[in-house]
Amino acid sequence: MQEKRSDSTLEIKNLNISFIQGEKEANALRGISLSLKRNEVHSLVGESGSGKTVTSTCIMGLLPTPPGRINSGQIILNDQDLLLLEEKDQRQIRGKEIAMVFQEPARYLNPTLKVGDQITEMLILHLGMGKGEALDRALEIFDLVGLDGGKRILDSYPHELSGGMKQRIMIAIAISCNPAFLIADEPTTALDVTLQLQILKLILSLKNTLDMGILFISHDLRVVHDISDWVSVIYAGRIVESASREKLFSDPKHPYTRLLLESIPDADKRGKRLQTIPGKVPDAEDIPGGCAFHTRCPLAEDICKTVQPETKEVGEGHSHTTACHFIGKQWKQWKN
Ligand SMILES: Nc1ncnc2c1ncn2[C@@H]1O[C@H](COP(=O)(O)OP(=O)(O)OP(=O)(O)O)[C@@H](O)[C@H]1O
Ligand SMILES: [Mg+2]
Repeated sequence: MQEKRSDSTLEIKNLNISFIQGEKEANALRGISLSLKRNEVHSLVGESGSGKTVTSTCIMGLLPTPPGRINSGQIILNDQDLLLLEEKDQRQIRGKEIAMVFQEPARYLNPTLKVGDQITEMLILHLGMGKGEALDRALEIFDLVGLDGGKRILDSYPHELSGGMKQRIMIAIAISCNPAFLIADEPTTALDVTLQLQILKLILSLKNTLDMGILFISHDLRVVHDISDWVSVIYAGRIVESASREKLFSDPKHPYTRLLLESIPDADKRGKRLQTIPGKVPDAEDIPGGCAFHTRCPLAEDICKTVQPETKEVGEGHSHTTACHFIGKQWKQWKN
């Protein structure tokens, strides 16, 4: 079903978003940049409240404004800034070129519409198919996402299906128009471990078959390790480190990344107490000055309290960036 398209990228540049609540302003995203390529999984990882969902909803044009406000930034696909397009043109791109799967299929699927009507609606709207053609295509897509008994499923309401099937149907609807990019915001956290694995495998196989670029959002670094080509670490609305999967896991440069990696449960450490990062992500209304991580960082010095570190290239011959004042000298002092 796939005709190969030219290499395209989805570039998120310097996205700055706040939420206005009365007198208060919550700085949810403070200059987020991400680059997504076809046939790559780019993971966005960080603790709860760091800005992952705000990023994905903004890319999908689903950010409620108000209370949300896009202060600056660009979302560039095929040389166009999606944030500058008229709403109807945006809608055309989102869903067709960029699609999304969510954590909770139950909230995304319409409970009052049969599955068949929901998937064909996308194909009719975006690809201009007739009903019959759309139904045939839907069955093909069900095959692709591993749903058996396609005709029966087309005729079912979401509540008649299991959690794993609903997840596959949401993925089927998301990929129905053959999108170049798929955003998956914690797509497996609501599932049990066996289903999680199946869905992750499915996402990876679709990446290859459909040549899709995937923004994979998670706070589970083990999953991120297994699935990613590229990883960006987000903290309090900023990317603090971004690198290839290999570099990020073998040679982390930011103290936050390092602490996250130390908190991964691992078979060798069984029985030992798991390290967790003391404290929590600051509220978007109350982000500390300087480096936002300084309040929890074992390496913080005076400069970290006042000066926000710039994002810098580190390492050679590859693109590995981080925002910390103490790159290089930091690990010698680590937790001493
Ligand atoms: N509608 C909203 N109104 C006000 N503040 C919001 C709104 N949505 C998000 N925020 C704030 O933006 C920040 C980022 O939230 P976000 O939902 O993106 O976090 P997340 O990284 O997806 O967390 P989780 O891992 O729990 O899903 C938080 O401080 C949150 O309170
Ligand atoms: Mg979220």
